[in-house]
Amino acid sequence: MLVALLPGDGIGPEVITQARRVLDALAIDGLTFEEALVGGAAYKATGHPLPPETLDLAKRADAILFGAVGDPDCDALERHLRPEQAILGLRKELSLFANLRPATLFPELADASALRPEVATQIDMIIVRELNGDVYFGEKGMRKTADGKREGYDIMSYNEDEVRRIARVGFETAMARGKKLCSVDKANVLETSQLWRDVVIETHAEYPEVALSHMYVDNCAMQLVRNPGQFDVIVTGNLFGDILSDQASMCAGSIGMLPSASLDSNQKGLYEPIHGSAPDIAGQGKANPLATILSAAMMLRYSLNMPAIADRIDAAVAKALAAGARSPDLGGTMSTSEMGDAVLAALT
Ligand code: NAI
Ligand code: MG
Repeated sequence: MLVALLPGDGIGPEVITQARRVLDALAIDGLTFEEALVGGAAYKATGHPLPPETLDLAKRADAILFGAVGDPDCDALERHLRPEQAILGLRKELSLFANLRPATLFPELADASALRPEVATQIDMIIVRELNGDVYFGEKGMRKTADGKREGYDIMSYNEDEVRRIARVGFETAMARGKKLCSVDKANVLETSQLWRDVVIETHAEYPEVALSHMYVDNCAMQLVRNPGQFDVIVTGNLFGDILSDQASMCAGSIGMLPSASLDSNQKGLYEPIHGSAPDIAGQGKANPLATILSAAMMLRYSLNMPAIADRIDAAVAKALAAGARSPDLGGTMSTSEMGDAVLAALT
């Protein structure tokens, strides 16, 4: 099994180093690593944020562990040379259509949530967001109306195959957890959503053990704040998922805590913390590496079929937090490598 390590720029290399230490300590049989430049680091060395050799490694690998990109030195470059193009290019080239974002609040961090502690501690969900379709990828443009006014438009559409494959990821994710799936749409108003709901209901026949419910997106936004504990797995489209997953992540405390996966149809995936390259703290040893360490655990669970080892990493992170490990974003003073030390100590 080959893991592509793509540290990127900013705090990316700092957090990837700690995830690599954890993976090395586990001495997993048959797991090998190859590293390549991506983002600002790749642009500075090769003139391109996603060089062919990096894309080639990503394609050959069984899974990708990605740090972050967004070097501000590249801010003045044309859009196609900007570091962020690397992550967009990887998603597109590898057909990564399913974005999984767990939002879990470790009880020790209840006071870091934007919600009241007694509400926040109930949060333990995964949002499954479709990544390759919806209004972001439909026909779009600017035109003039008959009376000469400017009008912008973006067409929202999903075909049934696109809905079915993300619905299956939602059901599979629910099967591996609490067997509860909530499909979020706006079927009272949108035709796209009516098809979404119909296809999710059809797909349910393949997963009779899962309890399926449906919710309108506006209600879901409210319920995420009112009673987040009711959710196990949420499956939704690209636009609704973009908004709801950011909302859910703030309910769960620091941005430095949250991992993510982006999967193709063969369970190959790219795993990364949800945060960016944090130029404001890069090079200072202040970055919280836990989101990246938890991303490595997701990689073992979803792409490398090693759920027991993934559970060990999750448990070690919880134990390190319980023992008081806190980086500055969590109100503490521990450095990036000291946070890594704390997880390593908790593993043994
Ligand atoms: P950001 O996530 O990099 O930082 C936002 C704030 O959170 C900053 O104050 C930062 O110091 C803090 N933060 C982020 N990660 C942290 C961690 N692990 N530990 C402690 N504090 C942490 O978002 P921002 O500032 O909007 O973007 C910076 C650059 O990153 C931009 O160029 C943006 O385009 C890029 N970006 C890249 C992403 C990716 O690689 N997938 C995702 C999001 C943004
Ligand atoms: Mg977003």
